[in-house]
Amino acid sequence: MTSFTISPLTDRTGAEVVGLDFTEPIDPQTRTTLNRAFAEHHVLVMRDQHFTPEQFKQAAQVFGELQQHDKKEHHVPGHPDVYYVSNDEIVNGRRIIPGETFHTDHSNHPRPPKATMLFAVELPSAGGDTQYVNVHDAYDDLPVETKQRIDGLKVVHVYLSKYSPRPLGAISEESRRDVPAPGIHPLVRTHPENGRKALFLNPVRMESIVGMEDEEALALIDELMRHATQKKYEYRHKWRYGDWVIWDNRSVMHQANPDYDMSERRYLYRLMLRGEVPV
Ligand SMILES: [Fe+2]
Repeated sequence: MTSFTISPLTDRTGAEVVGLDFTEPIDPQTRTTLNRAFAEHHVLVMRDQHFTPEQFKQAAQVFGELQQHDKKEHHVPGHPDVYYVSNDEIVNGRRIIPGETFHTDHSNHPRPPKATMLFAVELPSAGGDTQYVNVHDAYDDLPVETKQRIDGLKVVHVYLSKYSPRPLGAISEESRRDVPAPGIHPLVRTHPENGRKALFLNPVRMESIVGMEDEEALALIDELMRHATQKKYEYRHKWRYGDWVIWDNRSVMHQANPDYDMSERRYLYRLMLRGEVPV
């Protein structure tokens, strides 16, 4: 038996896993324990990992099946299905920091990825944290009237909303052709494993709420975003070398921080796992 620990990082969100080497085979019982912890804590931080791109891909599958990214060109050289995020892309004179405002990954897909993960390859000497907010707790705390108002609403998620608070990086013609038709998702979804309801929000991709004027929809989204991004719902991850972080897109929103010296490079491998149609 491998001995390892899973310890909460805050009261409600995030746990760290210490003592496992994911370049070694993970036995079925450990796999079950990890997946249960993931459904309960929403963000897992596996410490002290050392991955080649191929090893990262293997380890990822402890939690599910891999899903391709929309921007296929953002892959690690020689590894077409291992993607990356970095701070070295400039579009129209503006540096693109992927994920700079709170969002949920690839919510424009009819079956959005259940999880996303990063492995730290190069980190700035300070800053560049990733923040996570728990959208189960945020939903639970809403007044009854708000719950009644939003339960049952459907939202159209497109690749890039005309109301997005920020631009996205460039996407090649070829990748753009493969972007699926917009996803139309419930504003309140239920997690298939932990059974909890959650707000499903992403201002970068939400284009409209079905049956609602845009002005009213934008005001509602703004109100829900302000509520859900309060500090009390947050786990803020300070990256260390060796960190492999996986988060559940059905349970948290996340954002990156551009608060570090941009002459330093921040480069992380990134993979996503297949999800289901949100209900
Ligand atoms: Fe993201």
